[in-house]
Amino acid sequence: MRKIVIAGNWKMNKTVAESVKLAGEVVAAAKDIKAVTVAIAPTYLALAKVAEVVAGSNVKLAAQDVHWENQGAFTGKVSADMLKEIGVDFVIIGHSEQRTYFGETDATVNKKVRKVQSLGMTPIICIGETLDERKSGQLESVLTRQVNGAYDGLSADDALRTVIAYEPVWAIGTGVTASDDEAQEAHAFVRGLLAARYGDSVAQSISIQYGGSMKPENAAGLLAQKDIDGGLIGGAALKADSFLGIVTPGETLSK
Ligand code: 13P
Repeated sequence: MRKIVIAGNWKMNKTVAESVKLAGEVVAAAKDIKAVTVAIAPTYLALAKVAEVVAGSNVKLAAQDVHWENQGAFTGKVSADMLKEIGVDFVIIGHSEQRTYFGETDATVNKKVRKVQSLGMTPIICIGETLDERKSGQLESVLTRQVNGAYDGLSADDALRTVIAYEPVWAIGTGVTASDDEAQEAHAFVRGLLAARYGDSVAQSISIQYGGSMKPENAAGLLAQKDIDGGLIGGAALKADSFLGIVTPGETLSK
């Protein structure tokens, strides 16, 4: 059985006050949601305040990134211990914006995954191809490199404590979603990569989210696909009603 995990990645949006307000709205709207794991990822600055808002609710707290060292001279960075202390459950790692603008590599993704897991938090490992890569037939080689890089050295037990987010870069923030079939095909391929590393039963237990212009209008179709186990939501997560419009269809699913 896999859990449906729907996470809102707020990216660099919302002040602390706005974050507290939106978190409160999500908590209220999600109070009867049981079958789906719901998480929200505000900016670092708002995490501690939002932690207070989600405490005791069924909404989990996620961070948007982390550094792999415990502490030290890494200006601008935040460590896993700091996230753990305030009650973070999930950490988004290897987002395409991190890879594109801030030099994230498969090797740094792997270091972050290990660090986060060592403190009992769950990494949401982001992978996905650019449009050029897809057009030039590199979809499978890119996903293979990203998955093998992220999971390098992880045991089957470690792998069971991960979530993957397949986010085709061309679908992020563009309004262009992968079709249900395109997304399912990529997800099935990724699950196959996990099966090759860890066997079918482990692969069948790891939740693989879809991300990229997911919204209430297209969520049900995507979530109904056999290998799509939730979503990592950007723009549509910035309002409680559109976010919950994605969460709700997941309630009826079991995978
Ligand atoms: P959008 O939903 O805005 O396309 O963003 C997706 C994303 O990058 C989530 O991490």
